[in-house]
Amino acid sequence: MSTLVAKSSILLVLTFMLVFPSVLATKNPFKESKPCKRLVFYFHDTLFNGTDTTNATSAAVANITGLDRKHKFGLLVVFNDPLTKDHHLLSPPVGRAQGFYFFDMKDDYSAWLAYTLVFNSSEHKGTLNIMGADLIYEKTRDLSVVGGTGDFFMARGICTIQTDTIQDDYYFRLKMDIKLYECY
Ligand SMILES: *[C@@H]1O[C@H](CO)[C@@H](O)[C@H](O)[C@H]1NC(C)=O
Ligand SMILES: *[C@@H]1O[C@H](CO)[C@@H](O)[C@H](O)[C@H]1NC(C)=O
Ligand SMILES: *[C@@H]1O[C@H](CO)[C@@H](O)[C@H](O)[C@H]1NC(C)=O
Ligand SMILES: *[C@@H]1O[C@H](CO)[C@@H](O)[C@H](O)[C@H]1NC(C)=O
Repeated sequence: MSTLVAKSSILLVLTFMLVFPSVLATKNPFKESKPCKRLVFYFHDTLFNGTDTTNATSAAVANITGLDRKHKFGLLVVFNDPLTKDHHLLSPPVGRAQGFYFFDMKDDYSAWLAYTLVFNSSEHKGTLNIMGADLIYEKTRDLSVVGGTGDFFMARGICTIQTDTIQDDYYFRLKMDIKLYECY
């Protein structure tokens, strides 16, 4: 008798699972406050002004358009910027930030960024690929870490950026607070 009850209750549970498959879905395994790895870096962008070939690390490859000159709509910049652990431009770089950004908003400053952090230090080897909208008028912006290689094999997470300093059109420094939620 008791085995019959056990059998029918198992059947009942199985039927329930079939009818309500959402019950089987696992809960979101990621907790925003609990990254599996957290890293802070700065990258330094020195825009080429037409003569400074020694120190410039980025250059405009498409110019501002007439749509909105004030907010640089259309300006596309390619960069290969030094990456440091603190905010000093001349600190020994731990890698490079390689990619591009373009301004894409008419009424305010907003850009779209896509770049790879290429690490080459005793601490880290490998890459992290980062992309997303850079809503410059916000104090902090979240970009997606969409993948990685080497020490960061298959990594995914969020890169919170903040403009650490900006000097006219020629230099800016971004602080990146990288939180990885998938580490292998
Ligand atoms: C470009 O920058 C360099 C280094 O800061 C400076 O010496 C030079 O005068 C600048 N050129 C222009 C055209 O602003
Ligand atoms: C390039 O940067 C170095 C280090 O900051 C500085 O000493 C030098 O004057 C700069 N060169 C130019 C052309 O601005
Ligand atoms: C880009 O556009 C600005 C203003 O529209 C102009 O002053 C500048 O010379 C242009 N730069 C290039 C490289 O064409
Ligand atoms: C990586 O670092 C090593 C040792 O400092 C250096 O020899 C090599 O050229 C660097 N590679 C790149 C791509 O920067």
